[in-house]
Order: sequence, then C-alpha cells, then structure tokens
Amino acid sequence: MDRLAIIGGRPLFGEIAISGAKNSALKLMAASLLTDEPLVIENTPRLADVDMLLKLLAQHGVDVEFEGSTLKLQAATIKSTEAPYDLVRKMRASFNVLGPLLAREGKARVSLPGGCAIGARPVDLHLKALAAMGAKIDLDEGYVVASATGGLHGAKIDFPFVSVGATEHAILAATLAKGETILTNAAREPEIVDLADCLNAMGARVENAGRSTVRIAGVDRLGGAHHTVVPDRIEFGSYAMAVGAAGGELFLRNGRIDLLAAAGGVLEEAGLKLTQEENGVRVRRLGDRCRAVNIVTQPHPGFFTDLQAQFMALMATADGVSVIKETIFENRFMHAPELARMGAQISVDGQIATVRGVKRLKGAPVMATDLRASMSLVLAGLGAEGQTIVNRVYHLDRGFERLEEKLSHCGALIERVKGD
Ligand code: UD1
Repeated sequence: MDRLAIIGGRPLFGEIAISGAKNSALKLMAASLLTDEPLVIENTPRLADVDMLLKLLAQHGVDVEFEGSTLKLQAATIKSTEAPYDLVRKMRASFNVLGPLLAREGKARVSLPGGCAIGARPVDLHLKALAAMGAKIDLDEGYVVASATGGLHGAKIDFPFVSVGATEHAILAATLAKGETILTNAAREPEIVDLADCLNAMGARVENAGRSTVRIAGVDRLGGAHHTVVPDRIEFGSYAMAVGAAGGELFLRNGRIDLLAAAGGVLEEAGLKLTQEENGVRVRRLGDRCRAVNIVTQPHPGFFTDLQAQFMALMATADGVSVIKETIFENRFMHAPELARMGAQISVDGQIATVRGVKRLKGAPVMATDLRASMSLVLAGLGAEGQTIVNRVYHLDRGFERLEEKLSHCGALIERVKGD
C-alpha cells in the first residue's frame, strides 16, 4: 500500500488550482442515467471515487469518454438495472443510481452501500423519499429491490433531519416523476445547487435548490447538457488550512470564499487572512501561530463536517484551547489518536473533542482512517518537526486530486512511497 512521506516545517508559497468538487461530480454523473442524450461534465476531478462510479455506470450501459477533466456520459440505453455489491460497497454515493434507474426504467436492484467508516450511515431517508413517490421497496440479501411500474409520482416529503444524499436522491428521482414534488427540511449544500443547475440545463424544473424547501415539477423526458462542476470547497478549505499549519502564502485558484459559508469566518478568526480575487483566493497566516476557535459541525451554511478533521489538525498547534463538537456523524474523531501520536493534546468525550494547542507537533508514522481524516494528518505533517509517514494513502486518492504534486509545487517536501 502506498504511503506519503512528509518532512514538515516548510512554509508554502505559490499557487494551487482547486479541482471540481468530488461530492458534486458523483451526483452529476448519476444524473446521466436520466437521459439517452450525452451529458458533458467539465471540471471533473480525476479521483478513485469517480473511477469507481464510472465502472458502475458502464455496467448500466453508459458510454464513457474522459479526456482531461471533460467527462462525456451517454446512457443511450440502460443495459442493466442492477448495481452489484462489489461496485457499490466501496462508495456510498454509488447508491444514488437507484433513483435515476427507477425513474427511467421503473425498476432497480441496488446493493446497500459502504463508504468511509465514519458511523452507521443508513439510507432510510433515501428509501422513504422514493417510497413517498410511489416506489415499492423490498430488501433482499443486502440489496434494495425497487419498482414503480406506472412510474414515480410527485410527493410532499418532509425530511426529519437534513441529509445531503437523501435530498439529492429525491431531486434526481423527482425530475421524471408525474406531478410536483415538494421537499421540506432539504439540505442546502452548494453541491445541491450545482446538481439542480445541471438538471435544469437538461430540461428539468427544479426550483429553490439551496433553500430548505425545494420544488420539482416532473417532466416527461430530459435531454443532454454541458455543465461545469462547482469548485471543491473541501479541497479549498483544506489547502487554506495548510497555510495555517505550515505558514506562507498560497493563491488558491478557483477558490470561492462564499462556498466556505461559516467555515470562512472561523478560519479568519483562527488567524488566516483570506482575500477573494477574481480567479481565486489568496491565503496567508497572520502571525506565527493560529488562534484557538471553538466549532460545532452543522449542515450548510454551518461549519461543515468534511473540514472538521483538518480543523482539528490546525487547532493542534493553535494558541489556546479549542472545543470541537461533531454533530453530523457519530464516529468522526478517528484522527484524534493519530494526531496524538504526533504530540497533539486532544481529549475526546462523545461528540466533543477538546484540543489544547502545543507549539509544535513532531513527525511520526500515522494511519489514515478515512478520507478527510487522512488530509488532517497531511496538514499536521506539513507543520510538524521531522518526518511524518501517512499510511493508507488510498483514502486520499478517493477525494484529493494530485495532492502530493499540488503541495510539492508550493515548496512542501512530500512524496509518495510506493507500497507492495
Ligand atoms: C454527504 C457527503 C459527505 C459529507 C456529508 C455531510 C457525498 C458523496 N458525501 O454524505 O462527504 O460528510 O454529506 O455533509 O456527497 N442519515 C441517515 N439516514 C439517511 C441518510 C443519512 O440516518 O437515509 C444520517 C447519516 O448517517 C449522517 C447524517 O444523516 O449521520 C447526514 O448524512 P448525509 O447528509 O446524508 O451525508 P451523505 O449524503 O452520506
């Protein structure tokens, strides 16, 4: 297994181009199943998760052309409505093929998903939404077997709590349902707005995406479209925090402060200066160390959970004590003991981690446990004294495009060590 070797303590100077958002690209790709015409998705990141979904789409009958960051998908006919366990278990977002297959073909058999080990992560809200639209749903040996012989119909769906995936899934399915669907307590993440923009370009009628009540008027058919993926706010926030951990100044091309929502203010409070320019954001650290700030993870526009691990790494060397509360996932502090191996002082009690900042971390061998946790170890390594080895880099390859190349262009000493 590949590892990353990082020699810490070098400030970062230069430019990093922020890629298209993985979390958006994956849902846009699922949207290709809704039409027999070509969907061209520009600014698609080259990531292991994208490749995995491409394999799944290909076995459903989607033609795939991927050149540079331009992905062209065409599902002229659907060859199979089954999404097998082997292709779905590794990534939760694959589950989102269920709604589009059901909407277009009236049936689907999709394995229950897997993904990062950050809690139970059920799909009950996804299934309730599809059932409200008239799908008959059974579970059979780890598979969801769904049918809607007369097609899906519009419905009023009130989510008991906010779910990004369930909101997206309901929107995807509702585009081809008969009549109007109204979602209340919907997630408001930028990736949902991106999905709605793409679907509307395909001929769908999705209104109010990005607000808690979304209305979708079903249409008979969707066509092809050209769409550019929104920049990845997680990658952007992570590299901004890399400046916080290592010092220096970076220009993050394509970065958009508005996408960070509450996290933008938190980073400023922690002592980073973020300046929006025409094509990106300039980031520098004011002072030698960041300052401790308390955070609570929340759905958008709150501080997003996908930056929590990286923020903990930043707080590990901040001046003061920071209290971090994770409210979205029940098991998302697995990076804490790894950061502690590098000298971080963190105590975890249920949903709350208390971080007492130390002046400097010390490099150590550490183990990446999930995608965002892996990035937190990279940030810690960039600021630490000596060498850090981050094991299990395959997690990073799922979600951060050309990470070591982007960072080493800016002066970081980071290299991939090939494993057996
Ligand atoms: C998406 C993102 C992920 C991010 C998360 C929260 C993708 C590919 N992944 O994940 O990076 O961390 O949003 O911003 O876009 N839940 C249920 N039942 C359901 C659905 C969710 O109980 O049917 C729970 C989950 O276990 C979790 C919470 O709801 O505790 C929020 O999950 P959700 O917003 O659905 O996250 P994902 O869409 O899986």
